[in-house]
Amino acid sequence: MINKNILLGVTGGIAAYKACALTSKLQQQGANVKVIMTDNATKFVSPLTFQALSRNPVYTDTFDEKDPEKIAHIDLADWADIIILAPATANIIGKLATGIADDMISTTVLATKAPIYIAPAMNVNMYNHPSVIKNMKTLTEYGYHFIEPGSGYLACGWVGKGRLEEPETIIQVIQSHQSNGNLLAGKKVLISAGPTREKIDPVRYFSNRSTGKMGFSLAEAAAEYGAEVTLVTGPVFLDTSHKNIKRINVTTAEEMYQAMLREFPCNDIVIKSAAVADYRPKVVFDDKIKKQAGSIKFEMERTKDILAELGSKKTHQFLVGFAAETQNVLEYGKEKLHRKHLDAIVINNVSQEGAGFESETNIVTYVNRNHEEYQIPVALKSEVARQLLQLIWRDMKDEEA
Ligand code: CTP
Repeated sequence: MINKNILLGVTGGIAAYKACALTSKLQQQGANVKVIMTDNATKFVSPLTFQALSRNPVYTDTFDEKDPEKIAHIDLADWADIIILAPATANIIGKLATGIADDMISTTVLATKAPIYIAPAMNVNMYNHPSVIKNMKTLTEYGYHFIEPGSGYLACGWVGKGRLEEPETIIQVIQSHQSNGNLLAGKKVLISAGPTREKIDPVRYFSNRSTGKMGFSLAEAAAEYGAEVTLVTGPVFLDTSHKNIKRINVTTAEEMYQAMLREFPCNDIVIKSAAVADYRPKVVFDDKIKKQAGSIKFEMERTKDILAELGSKKTHQFLVGFAAETQNVLEYGKEKLHRKHLDAIVINNVSQEGAGFESETNIVTYVNRNHEEYQIPVALKSEVARQLLQLIWRDMKDEEA
């Protein structure tokens, strides 16, 4: 951050107090920080606080032109190396997505060519509102970077996703992104995500608790690092917004097998984070099974082990598997690394709090072929994804050398 010109936009949410710590930390790290506030932000924190922390004048009004030689919002837009909006309300996200420029922050952001990082903070229901989701998707398509909010107790009393990410993490994410901007440029990355569904009859299936979040985070992170990504996903409630991601929807393990094998030869990195069913019903009923007295039995047959098959066909690809374990975690994980001929494996203890299925966060150990182990402590899956891709990139480089 040394000598970087950072423009921080603070909008009107209670999390504005955290932007003070962010300003101070950026300043301590050697950045030149200037702050713009919306009117509503000034109701939470005084501009004087930011002025003292940034040691620069604070901008609140588009028409308060401090220097007749310059037009302030254009000057700031050109001055910035990086723009951070933290906290970003649903309102500013909506304005930017629709091109409205009616205050100092929105006019400046629309006029800049600098990379823009948005750290939203709002009530969980607002964050999940379709229009907010749509606006974030639009901005992602425009190339804006989102630093997801964390989950927990919110100032409004609700518990859920919407809490502004901690200032240290915001800085870490931006630094990591800046230094790894084009890490995977020119690489093709194939990722599998989500569960598979194995049909029993027209209304029932066997499946598992995977939400696809880890695989989707990997796809987003790989695309942000400049890769061309193919994402083969089982049925999930997630959206992909990055223009460099080609999405292939599948339902069963067999369909995932077909898609992965078809895409495998032309990819450089292949990551199998999907939770594939190991068994499927031997017989699929055409009509709905009617209940009867007593119990019911299904004979199950094995599905193909996609990862093992890819391992046996591997040529130039760097192949990464996932291992979801609940006991002897490292031992079982390493055993899979060898048995399936992988270059690396990402092992997680799915019974640990903060890890695995249906969690926003994950805790993983990355192990490569040389038995080098790297722990990634609890972090949002988006951050875990970025760190994993950095490890994969480094190991690939070593193998190529
Ligand atoms: N996998 C796969 N095809 C399967 C089963 C698993 O490609 N039919 C892949 C997963 O995508 C993951 C890795 O294998 O990358 C490990 O999955 P996991 O469920 O942990 O292990 P299994 O191989 O199924 O072994 P076990 O049931 O003994 O734990």
